[in-house]
Amino acid sequence: MGRMNLTKEQKQKIEELLAQMTVEEKVGQMNQLSPSIVGGFDVSMEELIEMVTDGRITNEEFGKIMSQAERDFHEDEVRAGKVGSFLLNNPKKANELQRIAVEESRMGIPLIYGLDVIHGFRTTFPIPLAETCSWNPQVFEASAAVAAREASSHGVHWTFAPMVDIARDARWGRISESAGEDPYLGSVYSRAKVRGYQGKNPADRERIAATLKHFVAYGAVEAGQDYNTVSMARSMLHNGYLPPVKAAVEEGAMTVMAAFNDYNGVPCTVNSYLLRSVLKEGYGFEGFVVSDANAIRECVNHGIAEDLADASRKATAAGMDMDMGSNAYNSHLVQQIENKEVSMEALDEAVRRILSVKMALGLFDHPYAEEERMELYDGELNPEHRAVALDAAKRSIVLLKNDNILPLKKEAKIALVGALADDRDNCLGAWFADGRGSDCITVKAGLERAGAQVAYAPCCGVESELQAEELRSVAADADVIVAVVGETNAMSGEASSRADITLPGHQQELLAAALATGKPVVAVLMNGRPLALQWEHEHVPALVETWQLGVTHGDAVAAVLFGDYNPSGKLCATFPAMTGQCPRYYNHPNTGRPASKSKFTSRYLDAPLEPLYPFGYGLSYTEFVYENLKVEEQADTFRVTVQVRNAGSCTGEETVQLYLRDVVGSIVRPVKELKAFEKVTLKPGESREVTLTLAKKDMGFYNDEMEYCLEDGAFIFYVGGNSRDCLKEERRVAFEK
Ligand code: BGC
Repeated sequence: MGRMNLTKEQKQKIEELLAQMTVEEKVGQMNQLSPSIVGGFDVSMEELIEMVTDGRITNEEFGKIMSQAERDFHEDEVRAGKVGSFLLNNPKKANELQRIAVEESRMGIPLIYGLDVIHGFRTTFPIPLAETCSWNPQVFEASAAVAAREASSHGVHWTFAPMVDIARDARWGRISESAGEDPYLGSVYSRAKVRGYQGKNPADRERIAATLKHFVAYGAVEAGQDYNTVSMARSMLHNGYLPPVKAAVEEGAMTVMAAFNDYNGVPCTVNSYLLRSVLKEGYGFEGFVVSDANAIRECVNHGIAEDLADASRKATAAGMDMDMGSNAYNSHLVQQIENKEVSMEALDEAVRRILSVKMALGLFDHPYAEEERMELYDGELNPEHRAVALDAAKRSIVLLKNDNILPLKKEAKIALVGALADDRDNCLGAWFADGRGSDCITVKAGLERAGAQVAYAPCCGVESELQAEELRSVAADADVIVAVVGETNAMSGEASSRADITLPGHQQELLAAALATGKPVVAVLMNGRPLALQWEHEHVPALVETWQLGVTHGDAVAAVLFGDYNPSGKLCATFPAMTGQCPRYYNHPNTGRPASKSKFTSRYLDAPLEPLYPFGYGLSYTEFVYENLKVEEQADTFRVTVQVRNAGSCTGEETVQLYLRDVVGSIVRPVKELKAFEKVTLKPGESREVTLTLAKKDMGFYNDEMEYCLEDGAFIFYVGGNSRDCLKEERRVAFEK
């Protein structure tokens, strides 16, 4: 598990380097820097981040400073061997600095360049939450492979992705960067991402190292408020939150980033239970752990460390290998080794891990970005990469509701409204590495490219007033109104939690005004989280969830609206009916009083019992019928078969989902858990038997002592097209002891 696959010679080379390195040089390897801002603004990058964090400067001011300021690339520190890693997207500069590291520093150890390549590099793909709705590991892998190819051309060796946080609370802004709420689907996703970024051999020039982040339970921050505290039983951690990490370590992920939050009172940055007992010893992870930005320093704010020196000591003791931006190790570790406050073994362990990753990435053999590839992706978008993005975008769209309005006829006269419909930047979503708004096809452009007759007027922005007159006039001559509504990029992602997840601003009024014209209305949603759409569901006849789909946003939307692509996406996160239902997720533990009409059950007085759209949900232009569920016990597996029939009038793809309920357990078990899924494409009238296989060893769970238990008893197998509407069959199971 988690093997670095180094040869004997490579391991030996690492030991030789370690034996020759001074303490200063070892500490240098554990230090990650970004270029500092200088000139006119004489503060370090770290301070600047603090200033924006504590509100002394606005985001806009920050952006301006960043774009105009001169940068200090810390050449002298690199030359002195005091830097192991750099955050950079600048291939020429990367090579200049690398030359200093390799040729002028005493040990000649190459730098490793990291960057947030979250959903594409130049070719921006759908945000992770969207892409996961494809339920398609080939899609996950293909987009990561393209991102790796493009990022590596700029000398990037390492991406801070995939984010594998389980996200059950739609208020949390970073749910957009996640694969949603389910540990099984999340594991399929995290494995595929690691394969896509790292390939079979991460030393290949077009591959980069992956980071599993954030370790761990960051998605469970209290009340969905970013950076908040997390308290949770270990059994929940191991069953509900760790599976995607474990799976991706098995797949060979080379690095892990610790989360900002505390887990049960100890910040993940200094949490030796998590970093040592679970990750390194438990999972056999051989790569290195990096802190999140500034997180070692923030241990002082957490009140777990007295000062930066104390934080440095605690982080090294816990197994934190690399310091991102806190300047803690750089300022204190040498002295702490001298004072014997930190052991040389702890230092050597961290450096050995960092050098192992550099070695496995081939940086000692080819430290430089290739001149001939440096500008390869800087001009026009690469058409093959764009095609991969379009495929992912179409598969990410989820049809939430359709009262016989969609697909639209090509001849239909469309009144297109909503400022998002003609907004390139907001197709990108949160985080875009080298992505540009100018690359994006908007919904307006996509419809026009598809040959539609479109009359466009914004009528209402995400946060601006409704222009009722404009709406009446653009709709006057139309057969149908397509309203593009949702959130801006900045409303999801880091530090972007919302306490109210209904449509922001006056957009509901826009929909109401559109409906008041008496014309059919389609709402095309662009957002970075599940929204509370109860009103929209009750009033608007068609709802299409398109998220933020990246460069091909408008083409994908047009393909779905006109039925050139039959929507196949399935939700990877529950849509609550209202914000007050958050956190809402399908696989919650059983209670003594399951929600029902009766008052004294687990429910709210003023909310529906059910969420609006359950996990796994998504409509198609055709209809699938499930029949004839069979559960066959075999030696080590259960073979579950079901007949799926296309009862509609067009070809469609369905995702057949298998859920399991462990009826009685020694700890309270979830009401239902996803265990497998299969895709099937059926022509009208066609019927096919779909087989899902469940290994008996995967029917267990972790208890609070981190022991994996397989307990005999009754299990219910559920199969269906979403987590709510399923056929079911119960079986008693006795596991081989
Ligand atoms: C985020 C990480 C990211 C890091 C580096 C932090 O603020 O939490 O996800 O990788 O910055 O940019």
